[in-house]
Amino acid sequence: MSELTKHILVTGGTGYIGSHTTVELLQEGYRVTIADDLSNSRAEVVDAVGEITGKRPAFVNVDLCNKDAVDALFKANSFDAIIHFAAHKQVGESVTAPLKYYRNNLTGLINLVEASLTSGTTRMVFSSSCTVYGQPDRLPVDENSPVRQPESPYGNTKKIAEEILRDAAAAYAALKVISLRYFNPVGAHNSSLIGEYPIGPPQNLMPVLTQLAIGKRNSMEVFGDDYNTPDGSCIRDYIHVVDLAKAHVVAIRRLLSASNSDAFETFNLGTGKGLSVLEVIRAFEEVNGVKLNYRISGRRPGDVEQIYGSTEKANTVLGWKAELNLNEMVKSAWAWEKMLDKKEKSKNTASL
Ligand code: WQD
Repeated sequence: MSELTKHILVTGGTGYIGSHTTVELLQEGYRVTIADDLSNSRAEVVDAVGEITGKRPAFVNVDLCNKDAVDALFKANSFDAIIHFAAHKQVGESVTAPLKYYRNNLTGLINLVEASLTSGTTRMVFSSSCTVYGQPDRLPVDENSPVRQPESPYGNTKKIAEEILRDAAAAYAALKVISLRYFNPVGAHNSSLIGEYPIGPPQNLMPVLTQLAIGKRNSMEVFGDDYNTPDGSCIRDYIHVVDLAKAHVVAIRRLLSASNSDAFETFNLGTGKGLSVLEVIRAFEEVNGVKLNYRISGRRPGDVEQIYGSTEKANTVLGWKAELNLNEMVKSAWAWEKMLDKKEKSKNTASL
């Protein structure tokens, strides 16, 4: 069958990485249905994806914790594969409300896998995270690095989800899973029609910087400059969200062509390069010609000192490599924030 007839279910497809992945899937000729409960995203993202690609994906508002709704979704559709993004993902909130995270992220997954097996949809790409490595002893981390006790209940739901999928793939011969372990996704599509669109004040670095630059906030804190790193601030592996999205299409193609070598495979998705918080701030200022008003404060509980990934396996086995650099990351993030600001201002004047 041609890609045109391949139908992919994207759960969480109105979210940040889900929407960018849906764009890449549509542009590769796949048919896409987005299933999302809009608990941390907006339905207007479906319109934006349609505007970018000229093909509007189907959208179903469904809470994956509602087993009957999930079963109905699979009865009404025939999916060739699934990309599962839908999950709560605020590290800080998961510490104060762990049961909300365990229920949503794990019950949703189990309902999805059960319904997919019943319907004969047996290929899944899972959205995992480098948080499963905790604070690694050795850097860069590769896929054989020990999975440790993650620093937060959010990270633990990713670790447990991988264990559920590994066991399910071992028990049900038909099920094939690729788990993609993201490092730090940043940036936005070059159309500036989709991007990171947090509901409520963002916790993660890039939207904090763009909101500071646009004036939505008047200061920010760098959480610690006393780490054992060259400039004292934490190091992460930042990866452009479009590079990340393209990797999902590669993984789907690998599953649909039955090229996977194991029933459960994991791949790190990063650039292999570590950057400090202060380096990202400096690049943002230089590339975008803005001055950011930040101050150094104490360490944030749960932060690991440094982590970045070996991308050797994704490069050699998937044939995928991140191509967009830090300048494109900070430039596209800023362009998206400015577009968002313009849209919100025109909405406000229209409502006067
Ligand atoms: C990055 C660095 C902060 C905000 C993220 C996602 C998590 C997972 C892994 C996918 C840290 C510093 C931040 C601020 C700061 N991704 N920082 N001031 O913690 O690495 O986790 O990647 O699953 O879901 O959240 O990302 O952007 O929160 O922090 O100094 O106002 O920026 O201390 O060193 P993190 P982050």
